[in-house]
Order: sequence, then structure tokens, then C-alpha cells
Amino acid sequence: MEKYVIKGGVKLSGEVNVSGAKNAVVAILPATILSDEPCVIENIPNISDVTITLQIMREMGAKIRLLNKTTVEIDPRPLMNMSIPYDKAKLMRATTYFLGTLLGRFHSAHVSMPGGCNLGDRPIDQHLKCFSALGAQCEIDGGMINLRADKLVGNQIFFDKNSVGATINGIMAAVKAEGLTVIENAAKEPHVVDLANCLNSMGADIIGAGTDVIKIRGVRELHGTTYSVIPDQIEAGTFMAAAAATRGNILIKNVIPKHLEPITNKLLKIGVQVEQYDDAVRVIGGENYVGTTIKTQPHPGFPTDMQPQMSAVLTCAKGASMVTESIFDNRFRYVDELRRMGANISVEGRVAVIEGVERLKGAPVKSTDLRAGAALIVAALGAEGTSDIYDIFHVERGYENMEMKLRNLGANICKVDETEPVSDDAEKKAI
Ligand code: EPU
Repeated sequence: MEKYVIKGGVKLSGEVNVSGAKNAVVAILPATILSDEPCVIENIPNISDVTITLQIMREMGAKIRLLNKTTVEIDPRPLMNMSIPYDKAKLMRATTYFLGTLLGRFHSAHVSMPGGCNLGDRPIDQHLKCFSALGAQCEIDGGMINLRADKLVGNQIFFDKNSVGATINGIMAAVKAEGLTVIENAAKEPHVVDLANCLNSMGADIIGAGTDVIKIRGVRELHGTTYSVIPDQIEAGTFMAAAAATRGNILIKNVIPKHLEPITNKLLKIGVQVEQYDDAVRVIGGENYVGTTIKTQPHPGFPTDMQPQMSAVLTCAKGASMVTESIFDNRFRYVDELRRMGANISVEGRVAVIEGVERLKGAPVKSTDLRAGAALIVAALGAEGTSDIYDIFHVERGYENMEMKLRNLGANICKVDETEPVSDDAEKKAI
């Protein structure tokens, strides 16, 4: 069992390059299945969600060649329609994207109910609503989602819930359907736009991605493309939070500053300096921060995927901060861990109230999900003393080389292989 050991208190300095966006690439790679020719996808992050996605595609028969560290060539023509079983689907949420893409290409798909971060209830009713509107029969049997259609025909779909996943699946299933599909109340996240841009570069006819209404006119064929994935908004935001927490001064390169604005605005508000350049931001921490209010919202609001990391920064901001999570039922599982480090946080339902303390103190803590792990890293970097962060496989799902990138910024962090300490519960049982 690997853990990060972080000795906090070092002000981060220097430059860091942000990798390709996890939530874009996990949609774009399966989307190449819709192509009738090989595709080259660039700026791929080296994270475990990408490894799993490529492994699934390879097992289905796609020819996959790594052209360099961040570029992959995918020939989807030999790919066969196979079921994606529980042992794969439990590893990541984005296996649901194989539903849209396999349905689009083969008119049938069989994928086990997905896993991913435990953030509370995560239904897939809007995905299924969309597939049935396009003409698919959907049933869930023995934990498998089974889709079958004689043909797919465009339709008008209104999402009751603004959903990134359902919007992406809707686009993928509609790209080769007959006629026009109109998705209303669509998600506007940068990765939705990136997927649509990638499919358009393959010859799809999608307009409106990035707005509430996306129109997709079905095409018969898609050709090959060379497409570069956008930089990761949340990885960049996490480094911004780390610079703030350590009172550092870092240049974060290969970013789209517009995507970072909701994060930048909150950091400015609490007293962090942020300078924007064409494709970089410099973050300069201050000595004293003031508390603020945060409410997570769909894009262009404050991203839920930055809520834990920003809360970690607010643990040492003067006064009270109020953080409202409006996307997921249960995204405060990291709070108990921050409390181990001395944070003063109370949670009631979807609202956390953070009373700023002078300084956090290092402690053994455990990642409960991907962004929770990132928040603990941010907190540990700013804390006095040493923290051991367990269950870092969550972090490695979505951050490329986190430890090395932080070390290059001067952080005192290393990865150690060690078995987990015996938990209190286990000890009690042993007695
Ligand atoms: N929802 C439904 N029905 C559905 C789909 C979603 O009620 O059919 C609800 C969810 O329960 C949630 C809300 O709608 O309350 C938003 O969920 P959404 O579908 O937008 O989330 P997702 O597609 O499952 C993606 C990202 C998440 C990110 C969310 C919100 C990927 C692979 N995952 O999840 O990323 O938090 O959008 O922006 O793109 C992460 O990267 O750490 C992460 C969790």
C-alpha cells in the first residue's frame, strides 16, 4: 500500500506544466470508437483512468499504439462489441461512456453499472432517458446496463438534471443517429465542449456545445482525426490551491485561464494574488487570508471538483467560511481527515462551516476519493510537521505524476510503500 509522506511548511516556487484533462480524455478515447478510420489523440495524461480506458478498448480489439508519452493512435476498426464487466466498470465512472459510443456504433451496448468516486447517490436515469429517446431499449439486469436499438433516430431531449455524463453520452449516441437531436439543459463544462470539438474534427455535426442547447445532426460516417486534449482545469486549480496554502509563488503553465476564472475569483477574494497570461497563471500566496462563501455550481460556476481543495485552503483563513455543495449529496467525506490535522469544520447536510485556525498540524490521513486526496495534499503542504496520506490510488486516478511535479516546486513529498496501519476498529476486534 503506497502513501505520500509530506513534510509541510515549504513555500512552493517555480513552474509546473498541467497535463491533459482527465474528464475530457475519458470521453474522447471511447469516442474514437465511432470513427471509421484511425485517430491520433494528443496531450493524454498518464493517469490510471486512461490506462483502464485504453485496456478496455484493447481487450475489445482496437489497435492502440503509443506514439510518444502523451500521444496515442487508435484504430477502432477491428474493435468488437463486448460486454464491460463489473471488475472494470467499478474502477471508474467514465466506463458509462462506452454505453453511448457502443450504442452509436453497434446499436447495442452491455456495460456493468459504474463505480467511481463515492460522492453519494449517482443515478444514471438521465443517460437512460436520452438513450430511450433515441430509440434504444434499456434494461438493467444482474447489474448490467443493456441497450439495444434497431436504429437510432434523433429526438428532442430535455435533461431534468444538468449532467456532464448524460450530456456526453447523449452526444455520442446521437452523432450517427438519423436526423436531428436537440439536447436541452445540457452541461456546459469545458470537457463537454472538448468532446464535441473532437467529434466535429472527425466530421460530426454538433453545434452549441458550451451552451444550454446542443444540436447534433447525425452523419453516416466519421473520419480519422488528430486532436489534442485540453489542459486539466482541476489539476491547474489544485496547484493554485497548493500555492495559496503554502504562501508560495508559482507559474502554472499549459492552462486555459478562462476555465480557471471561478477558482481565480475565489482566490483573489480571500487575499491570494493571481496573474493571468495567455496560457499560464501565476499564483502568489499572501500571509493572511480571509474566509469566504463558496457554492458549487455547474460550469461556469465554482466546480464541485475544486470544493475539497479550496476548503483545505480556507481551513487557515481568518474568520468563518461557508461552503455549500450543490452538485453531490456527500462530498464532505474528507472533512474528518482535515479535522485530524486540526481543522475546525462542522458539516450539516450539504453545508460546511469552516472556522479558520492559525495553522494545521501534520497527521496520518486517508484519501476517501480523488479530490479528497488532492485536498489532503494541499492541506499537508501548508501544515506544520509531517503528514502520511494513505489510499493514494484515488489521487493517481486523476493526477499525473503529482509527487514529482510537487517535488519540482520544492515540496518535501515522497511516495512510500507501506502497509496501512491497523485501524481502531480492527484493533478492537483483535482484542
Ligand atoms: N445525476 C442524476 N442523474 C443522472 C446523472 C447525474 O441525477 O442520470 C445527478 C448526479 O447524481 C449529480 C449531478 O446530477 O448530483 C451531476 O452529475 P454529473 O452527471 O454531472 O456527474 P458525472 O458525469 O457523474 C462528472 C465528472 C465528475 C464531476 C461531475 C460534475 C467525469 C468522468 N466525472 O461526473 O468528476 O464531479 O461531472 O462536474 O467527467 C472528478 O473528476 O473528481 C469527478 C468526480
